[in-house]
Amino acid sequence: MSTNEIENLPYMEKYNPYQKAYLDFWKESVADIRKFWDQEARKLLWYRTWDKVLDDSNPPFYRWFVGGETNMTLNALDRWKGTYVFNKVAYYWEGEDGSRRSVSYRELYEEVNRFSKALQDFGVGPNSTVTIYLPMIPELPIAMLSVVRLGAIHSVVFSGFSAQALADRIVDAKSKVLITADAYPRRGKPVETKKTADDAVAIAAKSGVNVEHVVVVRRLGTDVPWKEGRDVWYHELMSKYSDTTYVRPEPRKGDDVLYILYTSGTTGKPKGIMHSAGGNMVYVHSVFKWNWDIRPEDVHWTMADIGWVTGHTYIVYGPLLHGATEVLYEGAIDYPKPDRPWEMVERYGVTIFYTSPTAERALRAYGDEWVDKHEMPTLRILGTVGEPINPDVWHWYNEHVGKGRCPIVDTWWMTETSAAMISPAPGIATVTLKPGSATFPLPGIVADVLDEDGKPTPPGVKGYLVIKQPWPGMPLGIWGDPERFVKVYFSRFPPYFQAGDYAVRDEEGYFWLLGRADEVLKVAGHRLGTIEMEDALLKHPAVAESLVIGMPDPTKGEVPVAAVVLKPGYKPSEELKLELIKVVRDNIGAIATPETVLFVPKVPKTRSGKIMRRLLRDILLNRQLGDATTLEDPSAVEALKAAWDEFK
Ligand code: WT7
Repeated sequence: MSTNEIENLPYMEKYNPYQKAYLDFWKESVADIRKFWDQEARKLLWYRTWDKVLDDSNPPFYRWFVGGETNMTLNALDRWKGTYVFNKVAYYWEGEDGSRRSVSYRELYEEVNRFSKALQDFGVGPNSTVTIYLPMIPELPIAMLSVVRLGAIHSVVFSGFSAQALADRIVDAKSKVLITADAYPRRGKPVETKKTADDAVAIAAKSGVNVEHVVVVRRLGTDVPWKEGRDVWYHELMSKYSDTTYVRPEPRKGDDVLYILYTSGTTGKPKGIMHSAGGNMVYVHSVFKWNWDIRPEDVHWTMADIGWVTGHTYIVYGPLLHGATEVLYEGAIDYPKPDRPWEMVERYGVTIFYTSPTAERALRAYGDEWVDKHEMPTLRILGTVGEPINPDVWHWYNEHVGKGRCPIVDTWWMTETSAAMISPAPGIATVTLKPGSATFPLPGIVADVLDEDGKPTPPGVKGYLVIKQPWPGMPLGIWGDPERFVKVYFSRFPPYFQAGDYAVRDEEGYFWLLGRADEVLKVAGHRLGTIEMEDALLKHPAVAESLVIGMPDPTKGEVPVAAVVLKPGYKPSEELKLELIKVVRDNIGAIATPETVLFVPKVPKTRSGKIMRRLLRDILLNRQLGDATTLEDPSAVEALKAAWDEFK
């Protein structure tokens, strides 16, 4: 980016002095990103400092902190030895059933060392992949840290995913070790994780990937199927290692893989986003500070699941890199009562609370009395992530949860970015908030909104969000598929990173994020690919063609609605509909459950054979804005519309 472009911010004149000061700081940071990130990286411990801050010789495969060596756990755990942090609570854990446990930094350190040793004895070492399929219990961060300590690579799979989805991820990552649990409570009922894990291991074996060790954490004490020689209880394994066990954190190169995390995109197969050992650590460390102004006495609570990137960054690595205290909650947010979160904020004295618009909408829908009866005097900052926040919900969050005195940090980012990219930064700046806007890019980040031709859009005009310069939290690539990485993120507006979101900037330069511009849905904040769901439907013998569209939903934001064309010989029925819904659940997980399955004679396509899901959605909603003339067969559209109208 040219300095000229950076200087050219006419709206600067309108800002208050604090805001101006921030923009000045930001300008300096992006004018020389190497200098800026070099300074940030020096705040952490390294075995060896880097020879080069950024190697950009092979774009878009940027390499950060080349020649440097470090280990995430050196900074998240060992660093706190001999300081007051070692006796501090790292996690306040609360089970859905009310069980409680707090884990100090010392205990975390000791357990991680013991578990690292155990994994090492299984042959896990640098660059081995370990799949983790655990509910929200302390052993989840312990497992992640233990893997990372060995220089191995974790792939955490959300505990709500199905056996098939877990198997796909085990196979893609070629993991020989799987860490799971017996069962965990969800709305008071046990979810049988071990059974699902066993099914996944069996499916993976058919693709030639043999899981050799399954470590099972006992959470509920339910009976579980067991395979001698392969399965081992976590507690039995750990009892073999004393609490003075020490494993040296394996030196990792700045551009080694830290972890992989699968996410949905515009094609069928979920992709393994690879984050780097040096860059992710540096970026997460800086952003966690900027977002939350984190201080020693804070109690931070990210109410999300570690199975998603929000949890990786804002429950595990971010807090631990700052020696902060984090809340880890296992269960449903409204169980047994809709004020569970507010009760917990008071119980633990939470000072910073971070969640998603989906959770905010759901909690709001129960009625203000549930939140109003809790004073929550300790709260000082609120955060939101995952979807655009509707101004109405923003005001509710501000008035009822924050009692009008907590800034709302709306963080725009994605699995691929490691941490927030566009968001307020109370840790370094005071910026006037606007409900529904994520405000400005963070230091070191240059974002823009482009039109179809790649030209910046004028204020008020919607376009595509891009990131114009590399940043340390960017992915190393897609696990096993470098070409796809280039294609998905860097082919539309090269050399920029294309987020896949619509955005608009206002007259004052504020960014407003407007949702996905591609075939990706956000269902209750979860990222799902329409094509992934269509592929699942095609696995059913009755289905000839399938279509999935995201329809608006007042709580979940979006819900998937499926339409199928049946093969000759099959007739629509309620039973078949339920079977098809089940196919999607079995292949992906309950989060992908279609709202309904419509039976149609034909899937509407364009003359060139493309399915225009967005246009079809607008037609179903009677708010046709796009150009429908390219759709080849109007009768197909009418049939779809009729099926939908009948469903409603
Ligand atoms: C997509 C990424 C990053 C953690 C959770 C989601 C949407 C995310 C916001 C926000 C508007 C947002 C985007 C993005 N998104 N945060 N503050 N305002 N939209 O990670 O599952 O990788 O999803 O979430 O559409 O592309 P993810």
